[in-house]
Amino acid sequence: MPAFPDNFLWGTATAAYQVEGAWNEDGRTPSIWDTFSHTPGLVANGDTGDVACDHYHRLEEDLDLLAALGVGAYRFSISWPRVQPGGRGPANGPGLAFYSRLVDGLLTRDIAPVATLYHWDLPQELEDAGGWPQRDTALRFADYARLMGDALGDRVHTWITLNEPWCSAYLGYASGVHAPARTEPAAALAAVHHLNLGHGLAVQALRSTAAKDARMSVTLNLHHVRGVSEADADAVRRADAVANRAFLGPMLEGAYPRDLIEDTAAVTDWSFVRDGDEATACQPLDVLGVNYYNPTLVRQWDGAGPRETADGHQDGAASPWIACEDVEFVKQPGPYTEMGWNIDETGLTELLLRLHRDYPSMPTMITENGAAFPDPVGEDGRVHDEDRVDYLRRHLTAVAEAMEAGADVRGYFVWSLMDNFEWAHGYAKRFGIVRVDRDTMERTWKDSAYWYRDVVATGKLG
Ligand code: FCB
Repeated sequence: MPAFPDNFLWGTATAAYQVEGAWNEDGRTPSIWDTFSHTPGLVANGDTGDVACDHYHRLEEDLDLLAALGVGAYRFSISWPRVQPGGRGPANGPGLAFYSRLVDGLLTRDIAPVATLYHWDLPQELEDAGGWPQRDTALRFADYARLMGDALGDRVHTWITLNEPWCSAYLGYASGVHAPARTEPAAALAAVHHLNLGHGLAVQALRSTAAKDARMSVTLNLHHVRGVSEADADAVRRADAVANRAFLGPMLEGAYPRDLIEDTAAVTDWSFVRDGDEATACQPLDVLGVNYYNPTLVRQWDGAGPRETADGHQDGAASPWIACEDVEFVKQPGPYTEMGWNIDETGLTELLLRLHRDYPSMPTMITENGAAFPDPVGEDGRVHDEDRVDYLRRHLTAVAEAMEAGADVRGYFVWSLMDNFEWAHGYAKRFGIVRVDRDTMERTWKDSAYWYRDVVATGKLG
C-alpha cells in the first residue's frame, strides 16, 4: 500500500464559473462563459452558471466542508470579470473582498490557498475586442495578474496562471465547443501564442508584487499520446506537438518546437510571435501543474474509409486537432466514465515519468484528476460511489509508482470538491466527491469524500 510523504499537498479543486453563481452581482460583468451558456443550444439542458453551486453565498459552509475533509490545500479560480469588470481598469472592491474572505477563511483553517487566475472566464469585453487571438489580451491578463498579486499576493501559497490553455485555444477557437465558440484554426494558434505570452507576463507581474515569494505555476492538460503501433510514430509526434509541446516548448524551454511550426505552416506563418516573446513565456516556475483524466490513442490514417475520431471532440465537425488531418483518434478499451473517457491510470505514471525525464528539475503537482459517474442516491440517502473511489485509488497508485521511479510529485487535487457546472455538459455530469442537490443546494458527502478524508489524514491509500 503506497504511502505519501508527510509534506505531500492534498487538495480538492474547483473553478469560479463552475461553482460560484452570482453571475451579475456586486459589479461582476459577463464573461465569455455567460455569453456561451446563455446562447440557446450550446449547453446541455440549457444549463447556465447563473447559480451554479451558489458558492458565492455559501462560502463559509464550503470552507467548513474543506476543513472537515482535512485537506491541506484548496485550488480555486478567480473570476476575472468579478475583480476587474470588463477586463480593464481598476479593481472592483466587492469582488476582491470575496476572494480576500475566501483566502483568509482558508488560512484560518490551515488550508493553503492555490489560486488559478484564469479558468476560462474571459471578460466578454476582451473577447469583443478580439479575445486571445489578439496580443492585447495577454497584456490585459498581466495587468489583472498584477492587480491580484497586490490584493492577495502575501496570502496565496501557489499561483497558477492558466488552467489548460489547450482548452482555451483549441476548444474555444478551433472546434468551438467551448466559449467563445469560434471555429478559426489560425486564430486558435494565435490564441496558443498569446496564452503562452500572457502566462509569462503574468508570472513577471506577480513577481513584482507582494506575491514575489509565492510559488508560481501553470496547469496544463498534457495529453499522453500513444500510437497503436510503431508505424504510428509520426501521428504521435504531430499530436504531441500541437497538444503538449506547443505549451511546454515556450513555457519551459523558451522556444516553439520546429516541427510544430512546420506542421502548421498551411494554417499560419506564426508572424504573431515577436522577438523576445518566447523568452518572456519562459519564466522560472516552482512547480508544473498537470491535469490528467485519460490517455490519447492515435493511428496514422491511410486515407481509406472514414477517419476514426474517437477523441470525444470531433463528431464530424470542426476539430481541435489542427494539422492532424492524417491522424486518427482511436477508441480505447473500457471501462469508461460517464464522460465516455476510458479509465487508464498507466498513462498518468508514464506522463509523469516523461516530464521527469524531459524536465528533471521541474517538480509537478496533479492539479486535477477525477471522474464523473451516475451517482444515484441510494435508499439510505447516500451516494455509494465505489466506481469513483476505485478511479481515485488507481490514479493515486499510479502517482505513487511514478514517485517511486523518481518523479518529484508535490501534491494531488481531486476534481472536484463538489458536483458543478461541467461546461458544455451543464449539470448532467457529476464530478464531485460531495453531492450538490440541484434544488436545495444541499451538500452531501459521497462515499468517496469519506475515503479521501482518510487518505488525506493517513497519507495512505485505504
Ligand atoms: C478539465 C477542466 C475542469 C473540469 C474537468 C472535468 O478540463 O479544467 O474545469 O471541467 O476537466
